Amino acid sequence: MDKRVIVAIDGPAGAGKSTIARRLASRLGYLYIDTGAMYRAVALWALREEIPLDDAPRLEQLALHAVISLDAGSISLNGEDVTTAIRAPEIAGAASRVSAIPAVRRAMVRQQQRLGATASAVMEGRDIGTVVFPGAAVKIYLDADPRVRAQRRLLDLQARGESPSLDEVELDIRQRDERDRTRADSPLMQAPDAIYFDSTGLSAAEVEQGLLRIVRERTSNGKEIQR
Ligand code: DC
Repeated sequence: MDKRVIVAIDGPAGAGKSTIARRLASRLGYLYIDTGAMYRAVALWALREEIPLDDAPRLEQLALHAVISLDAGSISLNGEDVTTAIRAPEIAGAASRVSAIPAVRRAMVRQQQRLGATASAVMEGRDIGTVVFPGAAVKIYLDADPRVRAQRRLLDLQARGESPSLDEVELDIRQRDERDRTRADSPLMQAPDAIYFDSTGLSAAEVEQGLLRIVRERTSNGKEIQR
């Protein structure tokens, strides 16, 4: 019997979720859904509108009215391609702050559930296996040593022409993880039935192979095994 498959990948910043989720989705022929990009889009809009990042009622309105579309690695907000704009360093922190607001989360989670209801998908974020798709066929918690995560994020930033120090990037990542882990609503945590995968010291190809094996063990020919 055919059944849609959701592969949920959660974990802290810089663990390699986006790279691996994109590669896995392409190998499996599934949709790739980057939920962090959705929170970043709301944060970008809030900064442009100069809405304070703790103004829950106004941020809720933005989240409800944001027309976000994700398409093979690019993202648009209200018809504008914001793929590059949402990767600016100040957007990461702002996204972490707006994502702590329950009403913003409710609006985003609804969109994410709608997207995942249409086709098999690899969805990555912080609460996919715990809140968005608690019944996902495959749940992975992807982690790595904080210094290694900072090094990866530094490479991303350097590719954008930015030149912060490694210590600055690491501090930024640690603060963001702390906020994402300790917020009251849907904090970053490993679902009890998620598989913990440490990508420290592994290449993207090695992580992809490892996760592909896990997905294949839990599914058959891309279809969820009926138990
Ligand atoms: O994955 P990312 O770095 O693009 O995510 C940006 C922020 O969005 C992150 O600090 C926490 C938040 N986020 C979230 O709360 N829930 C998700 N499912 C995805 C991201």
